[in-house]
Amino acid sequence: MANVNASIVPLIALIVSSILMAATASDFYQDFDLTWGDSRAKILNNGQLLTLSLDKASGSGFQSKNEYLFCQIDMQLMLVRGNSAGTVTAYYLSSKGSTWDEIDFEFLGNLSGDPYILHTNVFSQGKGNREQQFYLWFDPTADFHTYSILWNPQRIIFSVDSTPIREFKNMESRGVPFPKSQPMRIYSSLWNADDWATRGGLVKIDWTQAPFTASYRNFNANACVWSNGASSCNSNSQSSASGNNAWLFQELDSTSRKRLKLVQKNYMIYNYCIDSERFPQDRPLECNLS
Ligand SMILES: *[C@@H]1O[C@H](CO)[C@@H](O)[C@H](O)[C@H]1NC(C)=O
Repeated sequence: MANVNASIVPLIALIVSSILMAATASDFYQDFDLTWGDSRAKILNNGQLLTLSLDKASGSGFQSKNEYLFCQIDMQLMLVRGNSAGTVTAYYLSSKGSTWDEIDFEFLGNLSGDPYILHTNVFSQGKGNREQQFYLWFDPTADFHTYSILWNPQRIIFSVDSTPIREFKNMESRGVPFPKSQPMRIYSSLWNADDWATRGGLVKIDWTQAPFTASYRNFNANACVWSNGASSCNSNSQSSASGNNAWLFQELDSTSRKRLKLVQKNYMIYNYCIDSERFPQDRPLECNLS
């Protein structure tokens, strides 16, 4: 018996310490600032939960305290319940200036029972027009689900519950600009976009359902933090302290690639690469290469 106990103790210690780590990893007070919408944006439960809401007077939003030059970020979101038509919840990375870079998740609300659309885009040096849209294989309003962005020097991968849904590769060598020198911050907002969001603006927000609320938890980041013109990943002390930098070189293995293809086949509802009305002459360069 003594032996059994002796082997269980370290295991319990390990479990407890990983729970503590998870708790400290997700402290919205530590990682984010509420930036607009006054009390419509709230941090709750000792920093473990964040909620945004939208009413007729205003939406709300938050942003990360840190800027990143490459990161692997996970966030769990639960989207606006019920009739969310006309609302948009945006969760994205963006740099500043007129030639900014941006990596977007946008969740386009819908009438009760109709599917949400997950809209994605990638901007490099101020140019976007790279929309891909998906339905989800679950109800994103019923529970929290994990939405992730991997951004390293070789690629951007969007994932949902660890399933990759989109990859944007670095094809600079073929003349396609790739975000790799402008630090980005994380932004999120819930706002009124009923001029376009749901069925091209046909369905308006039903204000009798307001306030609309989206919730966030379990933020986790592996990141190169940018401060005072330097990246934490370039200093030896920092990278050895943060340990595992595998994400900086990560790519899709053959299993992930198969899952990505399957999601694109079954859930993708819009792909700019095959929109010949929009691009009648030549498809965007990166579309011919991937
Ligand atoms: C909302 O549901 C309708 C009907 O199923 C669908 O056509 C539409 O794409 C959905 N999403 C949005 C954002 O309009």
